[in-house]
Amino acid sequence: MNETTTRLLSPSTEGIRDAVSILRQGGLVALPTETVYGLGADARNDHAVARIFDAKGRPRFNPLIVHVADAAAAQELVEWSDASERLAAAFWPGPLSLVLPLKSDAGLSPLVTADLPTLAVRVPEHALAQALLTGFSGPVAAPSANPSGRISPTTPEHVIAGLQGRVEAVLDGGACQVGVESTIVGLAGAPTLLRPGGVPQEALEAALGAPLAVHQSGDPLTAPGQMTSHYAPRVGVRLNADQAEKGERLLGFGRVDGATLNLSPAGDPVEAAAHLFAMLHEIDDGVHPIAVSPIPEQGLGRAINDRLRRAAAPRYS
Ligand code: TXA
Ligand code: MG
Repeated sequence: MNETTTRLLSPSTEGIRDAVSILRQGGLVALPTETVYGLGADARNDHAVARIFDAKGRPRFNPLIVHVADAAAAQELVEWSDASERLAAAFWPGPLSLVLPLKSDAGLSPLVTADLPTLAVRVPEHALAQALLTGFSGPVAAPSANPSGRISPTTPEHVIAGLQGRVEAVLDGGACQVGVESTIVGLAGAPTLLRPGGVPQEALEAALGAPLAVHQSGDPLTAPGQMTSHYAPRVGVRLNADQAEKGERLLGFGRVDGATLNLSPAGDPVEAAAHLFAMLHEIDDGVHPIAVSPIPEQGLGRAINDRLRRAAAPRYS
């Protein structure tokens, strides 16, 4: 695509108005959500959605999450169920995406779902995302606003570093609070955790009153983002490290000595999630491998460990 000039829009009525008008014209706007920045386009506009894939270098078979302002708007796009009602009532707006059967008259570009019979929908909580979705009053397709295969952006600077010249605008919401992507729950069959994320598995199971099936590696790929080497810094990553070996830089968690950066000196997984991607960006100097302290596998720790395992996995290309 032709290079465009990327504008940084202020978090003001004027900035939101400009962002809405870019979306209406089929342009791309990177928008803040409480999880990570999304690369938004009108989900009904084939050309606009195609530009998302081009800008990210994303394979066309990898479907997108559609963002709407509330559960009522989601129900216009997907078949609702008891389970979706429970989870939406408990966690929307918030860091949860639900995969449900796509309605035949949803009116979305087929590129959004990569021709799957299901759609991932999300109602974000971030005030600017809400203002944009309400102002636009239509479905916005938005994957994370990073080049495909790189770490998700949690600041406008990350977005610009990755996508400068490929998007019309970035709506400036500062740093994202949650810091890891939404939890994705599949509800087209038995409730299944497809991707751990901002809502902990334990909280979802409490709201459902039943355990979730968990997608296992080796199961057929229902979300291509489950590909192991998805979240990639430029250098090697070693997990569960008690200390840095020679030449490594240590990304700490809790009380550890010699850390170059520490996700949470207090050992708080919520704080660690909020810092994860920014610190991976910062510690990755393209030269020194990264060692990461152990992080307990509970609450947001599951999402953090999931992203770290992907960061540490061998690269396909
Ligand atoms: O927090 C988030 O979810 C962020 C913000 C911007 O909302 N978005 C995000 O989108 O992480 P993305 O595209 O980077 O990751 C979405 C994941 C992908 O792994 C995709 O394969 C999966 O959702 N997905 C989308 N539609 C699906 C569907 N119908 N069934 C299964 N997985 C789906
Ligand atoms: Mg992504």
